[in-house]
This record gives sequence, C-alpha cells and structure tokens, in this order.
Amino acid sequence: MSNLPAPTENYQEEDEMNAVAHDYGVGKEPVARLRMAVVGAGSRGASLARAFHACPEWELTAVCDVEIDRAGKLAAQLGDVPWFETIDELLDSVEVDTAAIATPLGALHGTTMTALRAGKHVLAEEPLADSLVRGHEMVSEAQANGLVLMTDHPHSFEPAIQKIQKLMDSGSLGEILFVEALLSEPNLLKTERDVFWDLAPGNFAILDQVLPEGLAPLEVSAFGGDPLGTGRDCVGHINFRLSNDAPVHVHVNRLSRAKTHQLLIAGTRLTMVWDGGLHKERLQVLDPCLPNQQKHFSPYCPEPEIPQLLDEDGPQLILEQQTLGRMAAELAKRIQRQRGGFPPHLPGLRVLAMLEAIARSRSIDGQASRVMAPFPEDSDPDIAGNWSQSILWSK
Ligand SMILES: NC(=O)c1ccc[n+]([C@@H]2O[C@H](COP(=O)([O-])OP(=O)(O)OC[C@H]3O[C@@H](n4cnc5c(N)ncnc54)[C@H](O)[C@@H]3O)[C@@H](O)[C@H]2O)c1
Repeated sequence: MSNLPAPTENYQEEDEMNAVAHDYGVGKEPVARLRMAVVGAGSRGASLARAFHACPEWELTAVCDVEIDRAGKLAAQLGDVPWFETIDELLDSVEVDTAAIATPLGALHGTTMTALRAGKHVLAEEPLADSLVRGHEMVSEAQANGLVLMTDHPHSFEPAIQKIQKLMDSGSLGEILFVEALLSEPNLLKTERDVFWDLAPGNFAILDQVLPEGLAPLEVSAFGGDPLGTGRDCVGHINFRLSNDAPVHVHVNRLSRAKTHQLLIAGTRLTMVWDGGLHKERLQVLDPCLPNQQKHFSPYCPEPEIPQLLDEDGPQLILEQQTLGRMAAELAKRIQRQRGGFPPHLPGLRVLAMLEAIARSRSIDGQASRVMAPFPEDSDPDIAGNWSQSILWSK
C-alpha cells in the first residue's frame, strides 16, 4: 500500500507548500527590520545581497569587499547602500545586526570571528570553516555572546527538499535501501579547493537534513582523482553506511562537461528522485505498487509574492532567489527568537566533520576513516546538543 496521496490531491500539496512559504514570512508584515551587511561581493555575496534586499524582514545596510570596486558596483545595483573595503571599516561606520560572510574559504574564519566579536549575528558561507577546530571556535564565540551563527545551506529551504524530509520523517519510504547523490559542475578554474571541499558540502547539507538520523556515519571512505595533474582531486567518490547498513554514495565532479545535481533515495516502498537541474517537477516519487510504475510528481510551487528580479536570467536564478529569501526569513526568525529547534550551526559542523574524515581517508588510500565528533568531549552539553553523547559520534 502506498502512503502517498492520490495524484488528484496535488492541489492540496501546493497549498502545503504555500503554507511553508507563508510560515517563512512571505506576504506577512515584518515585526522589525533587521540590518544586514554583506561581506564579500563576489557571485555568492551578490546573490545574498539581492535576497536580503528583497526580504521584508531585512534592510541591506552595507556591503564590503577587499576589492573595493566590486563592493561599489554591487552597492550601486542595490540602490547605493554604503560600501567599504574591510569588515573593520564597515563595523566602525554602520550599525548592523548581522553579517552575511561570503568570502572565500580561507577568509571565512577571520571575518566571521571579527563580526562575532563585535556582537553581530552571522550567516556564514559553506563550508563553515577550513577545519573542524576553527568551525568549533566560531560556534563557541557565537554561543559565548548569545549570537546566532548559521551556515548558508540554501537547499534546506527548497520546497522539494522539505518535501523529501517530510516523506522521510513519516516513514513513507519504508526501510532505506540505498542513497546516491551526484553533483557535477564543469568549471575547474572556479576554485583552488579540492573537489571534496568544493562540492561535497552542498550534498552533505541536504543529506544531513533529510536522513532520519542526520549525517552521522561512523566512518567514511573517499576515493579521488586528478587525471589532468592540477595538483588537487577534481573527481571524488565518497562512501559510507547508514545505521541499518544501507550504503550511501556521493559523487562530486569538476571534470564533467555536464552540470548535474541529483539525489536518489530508494526505500522498500517508495523511491525519491530529486533533480536540482530542473525548474519544475524537481522531485519525483516512484511507487512500484502503482500500475505501470506510475509516477507521482511533487511540483515545485512558485511564489508570486517574491519579486522575480532576475526574470531575464532564467527560472533557475529565480528559484535560487526564492530559496535564499526563505533562508533570510528563517534567519530573522532565529535572531528574533521566534523559532527554536536544533542550533542552526550544527549542520555546518557535521559537514566539517565529514570533510575532515574524507581528507584522512584520502591520505590512507581510501581506507575507512572515523568521523570525529563535531564537539570536543568536554563541551557544554547545551552547546553540543545530543550529538556529542550519541555513540554515532564516539571517537
Ligand atoms: N552556499 C552555497 O550554495 C554557495 C554557493 C557558491 C559559493 N559559496 C561559497 O561562497 C563563498 C564565496 O564564493 P564566490 O563564488 O562568491 O567567490 P568569489 O571569489 O566570487 O567572491 C568572494 C569575494 O570575497 C572577497 N574577499 C576576500 N577576502 C575578503 C575579506 N577578508 N573581506 C571582504 N571581502 C573579501 C573577494 O575579493 C571576492 O570579491 C565561498 O566560501 C564559497 O564556498 C557557497
């Protein structure tokens, strides 16, 4: 028997998704506008700045970039907000509540610590830091000052991913049999990081959200390759097991000509296929109990309330802006203490724990490496949550 609603109930699902959108503040009067500064005016910083600029909960107050022309150009596009060369100058000159840090990985820790020490909440790019120790330092600083530190894992706010999470939580899939995730992006020159640190965080953040036990494997094996001799892995395969022994395979690739982002979760009852490259119908749920492998589509539901700023750039960018808008609204709720739940920095730390285990596995020719606890054993349990107690994180 299938737990899915009949295909004719799609409208009800759309209503559900609209309800999610409204829950994130779309179409509601804001309580009070929070002031946001964007640090790093590259491609990600520009996307974040546009999203916060369009979000009713936020006022974009300033931008900065060590390449000052970039900061000025972005500021001009957004109605001449003040712009600065350094985060110190910015914090000395403008009142802000929060900083969105969109610098390259090497500068994330320094800029985030500067913002936190100045008493600002932080939205930090993924991966949160270049090591688990540094990530933990950032979290400790935020906790010590009662500040929110959230990692920018945008897919978490996508309706299709939230739908997967709901189906997983409800047990509709049955027992999980296997999971496969693939992310390939052709631009080899975009970053100097190896492909694991570059592309795996996005996949891990999705898995951390949708897997019933989160991203908590005991150990992980990684295999990579650099066939062009660039000095770093450009293709990578990561394997680990869930607690029921179901295998998970994550493939990340900078050499592929095709841009692909897919996730497949197979259960004993249903199989879910998410395709991040599609604008509509990103999520298919396959039910072998229905005649002829009939497919049930969970449609992506556009939100007309959000201004379609980038219409000429295509539906993918509109979708990205809508997802970032939801993330911005969630961040506001967290800061205004309107929403509780697990600490928003935990997924970022768990992703870092995975990345470090992968690096260790690569250094021992792909043998399995233990995933370390994201918090030291002597951490305050309120900070560590249940994770440090969990045997899944035992060292
Ligand atoms: N969450 C996601 O889905 C996602 C997507 C893309 C990129 N990213 C992350 O976003 C970050 C930025 O990526 P990008 O593609 O925009 O890179 P980018 O190189 O285009 O932009 C980074 C900008 O930061 C500036 N910068 C560097 N150090 C700085 C400092 N100390 N203070 C202020 N500005 C500084 C650079 O001059 C540059 O303009 C990276 O950490 C990347 O991993 C995340």
